[in-house]
Amino acid sequence: MPKLIVVNRAGEESEVQVEDGLTVMEAIRDNGFDELLALCGGCCSCATCHVQIDPSFKDKLPAMSEDEDDLLESSDHREDNSRLGCQIPFTADLDGLRVTIAPED
Ligand code: FES
Repeated sequence: MPKLIVVNRAGEESEVQVEDGLTVMEAIRDNGFDELLALCGGCCSCATCHVQIDPSFKDKLPAMSEDEDDLLESSDHREDNSRLGCQIPFTADLDGLRVTIAPED
C-alpha cells in the first residue's frame, strides 16, 4: 500500500499506509489524528482539513477548484502549498507524499 507521511501540529512525523480509494483527509482522520477535524466530512465546505503539501508533489495533485480556493482564502494560515485534504484522492502516484496539518484557524 502506498504510504503517506503526516506531520502533526507538534511537528511529529508519522507514516501511514493508505488503502485504495481514500482521500488524504480520510487517510489522516482514520489513522487517529484528531487535530484534523474534517467537520464537513469531505464535501468541501469547512476547511478544517487544511494541510500543507510537500511542494515537490505539486504537479501530481489534482487542480484546485474555485470552492477549495475560496475556502483556503478564509484561512489565516494559507501558504503556497496549502490544500484541503478532502480534495485530494490518495493514489499510488502520491506514494511518499508528506503533508503537514495546518495550524488551527
Ligand atoms: S473536510 Fe471539510 S472541506 Fe475538507
